[in-house]
Amino acid sequence: MLIPVILSGGAGTRLWPVSRSAYPKPFMRLADGESLLYKTLDRALAVADGGHVLTVTGRDYYFLTRDEYAAHPQADLDRLPFLLEPAGRNTAPAILLAAHYALQHISPDAVLLVLPADHLIRQLDRFAADVARARALAEDGWLTTFGIPPTHAETGFGYIHLGAAIAGREGREISAFVEKPKKETAEAYLAGGDHVWNSGMFCFRADALLQAAAEACPAVHQAVLACHAAATSHESPVEYAREAFLAQPDISIDYAVMENAARRAVVPAGFDWSDIGSWKAVSELEAESDEQGNRVRGQAILIESSNCYIQSDKRMVAAVGVKDLVIVDTDDAVLVADRERAQQVKLVVDRLRADK
Ligand code: GDD
Ligand code: MG
Repeated sequence: MLIPVILSGGAGTRLWPVSRSAYPKPFMRLADGESLLYKTLDRALAVADGGHVLTVTGRDYYFLTRDEYAAHPQADLDRLPFLLEPAGRNTAPAILLAAHYALQHISPDAVLLVLPADHLIRQLDRFAADVARARALAEDGWLTTFGIPPTHAETGFGYIHLGAAIAGREGREISAFVEKPKKETAEAYLAGGDHVWNSGMFCFRADALLQAAAEACPAVHQAVLACHAAATSHESPVEYAREAFLAQPDISIDYAVMENAARRAVVPAGFDWSDIGSWKAVSELEAESDEQGNRVRGQAILIESSNCYIQSDKRMVAAVGVKDLVIVDTDDAVLVADRERAQQVKLVVDRLRADK
């Protein structure tokens, strides 16, 4: 039984001032008015068996998330259980807790499809076809990830070294994971052609994952087990005893399990994929650019300016004689950044936190 697990965690600090801790990236609306979270639920429901979708998120986001879900015409809230975190402990605890919940409360045959809530995928038919491939591998016991053919030497992603083809299945073995390599390494991978990006989406049998976790990271496994046992209620929204939750190590599923597990597979993705990681990535989603390469969402006047991205919900923004800028205007903050340095916007958030 295929059960999507939506992970909705981090604040996405590189998308300040729109993404904030009170209103993080998954709630950010795209030009069509839909949030990334809503779109994630939509693709989850497109492949879920029986309409069951699990969501692991911070307790502060419970009501906002439910409101997003309630707006979906196919959503049956009784089949959308929530696991609420008192604080983030990264993806290993989140996914392993979901595995325990799914086995115990939904189906002993649960196959999990892990979907981060801040990715954008537009080609839903191709997505569903690749999910079917990954599911077939998962049902055979493979811990499966989706690999994205790289388009540039990105250093913000993990890379997967493709191994042997898997007989009778559409997928490859994984010979190695390399998390966020240096620029020169990423360039070599891109040129070599036998690496794909780790999408951070996974498909595995819940029992196979827990078994692999018990072998690869026994301390994490034990802490998660203790936390699961300390759930204060098994009705949705599930909450955990704070101490047991915080006692779990802060570690990603990549480091804790995938890097050391035995049977790992990758399905090279045939669908479009974007991890909306920075304003540069957001700006590339706006299809329409003017002749000078400017993209605008909202109202702006550009005079002799080129290659800028401007987003403004209410006020008019005017720019004269500038190039390669990102300008984002919100009610209480304005961002002006060099397009190519959009990754560094997170430093603004670090500074704001330090000044608090
Ligand atoms: N519920 C929950 N709780 N979700 C979490 C938590 C948590 O504590 N921590 C992270 N997440 C969610 C994030 O919201 C995001 O959707 C996803 O899990 C991945 O976490 P990131 O923090 O964005 O990871 P990353 O960008 O460093 O790297 C991962 O994703 C890349 C692709 O986007 C790795 O898997 C890389 O290898 C991969 O290339
Ligand atoms: Mg990320």
